[in-house]
Amino acid sequence: MAAGLGALVSLGSMAGCGTDGQVQKATSIKIGVTVYDQYDTFVSQMMTDFNEYAAEQEEQTGIAINVEVYNAAGSQSTQNSQVEEMLDAGCNVICVNLVDRTEPTTIIDMAEKNNVPVIFFNRELVEEDLERWDRVYYVGAKAFESGIMQGEIAADAFKENPDADKNGDGVFQYVVLEGEAGHQDAIVRTEYAVSTIIDNGVEVEKLAYGIANWNRAQAQTKMTQMLAEYDGEIELVIANNDDMALGAIDALKTSHLKRADWPVVVGIDGTDVGLAAVASGEMVGTVYNDKEGQAQAMLDLAYALSVGDTLDDLNLENGKYIRLPYSKVGSRDVKNYMK
Ligand code: BGC
Repeated sequence: MAAGLGALVSLGSMAGCGTDGQVQKATSIKIGVTVYDQYDTFVSQMMTDFNEYAAEQEEQTGIAINVEVYNAAGSQSTQNSQVEEMLDAGCNVICVNLVDRTEPTTIIDMAEKNNVPVIFFNRELVEEDLERWDRVYYVGAKAFESGIMQGEIAADAFKENPDADKNGDGVFQYVVLEGEAGHQDAIVRTEYAVSTIIDNGVEVEKLAYGIANWNRAQAQTKMTQMLAEYDGEIELVIANNDDMALGAIDALKTSHLKRADWPVVVGIDGTDVGLAAVASGEMVGTVYNDKEGQAQAMLDLAYALSVGDTLDDLNLENGKYIRLPYSKVGSRDVKNYMK
């Protein structure tokens, strides 16, 4: 992933009005992307897909598509400067994986001043911010759905496997590993996962929770602490994403617990490493966060905005949102998701 600007590819003729008033088709477009953290497993896999689809689109249309990707490395002010650079460099559209979802105003204002559309993705802003300007869009997933599906996977695991209830008290004792505080996916996933387990007739007891910021190493540390406190009592680990589920598994591997005594671990994302853990049985299941679908939708939207095509075929909700559905992945169907 290219970090920083580097030499910009020179542009061919951009879409615009010819002398006879006819709209000319672009021969090349430039898409600027900034991600909140290039080491985030899900986001980096989504960007790999995005670049692949851009190359395919270029081949199909004959229009050169230059994609510049920046890493904001967790700093909103760095990201704001990157957007400024991208606008100065003549990007036709800017795709922003916002660092701080409550701080989109600077970016929206700059984009509006330059009349360059912005597509926010993966880290959803509040609706009022999306309404600030009509050329602001969002591509992501239906956050609540992932929590519901994760809760269903956990409830089924409890009902179908008597060993899941290790102390045999009929109650599922759980811990939660949460993503960043304030991230819409973290808040919504935890809430819906737990309420869905209960709605499915399984009684639960929360033992502990830890914020691990989507991060595997942080989750391992948190899980190690929880294991020290609750040892063999934990029956279920609800992780807001696969990387944190894998961090919990890393902690279990270094604990004294025998494999048969591990809690049920459920994740969300279906990243390559997450799917491998479902295939090996270390994770009972995950919820597929359709990075391919999101990358394709973002490319289609970025392309249409850049060349001035209609957005009619893109099925935007309220003219602004594209939200892809999730799907459940268990040991039986994991093979269908693995590349
Ligand atoms: C993904 C996480 C990722 C986060 C980053 C979520 O939708 O499930 O894996 O770390 O987005 O914003």
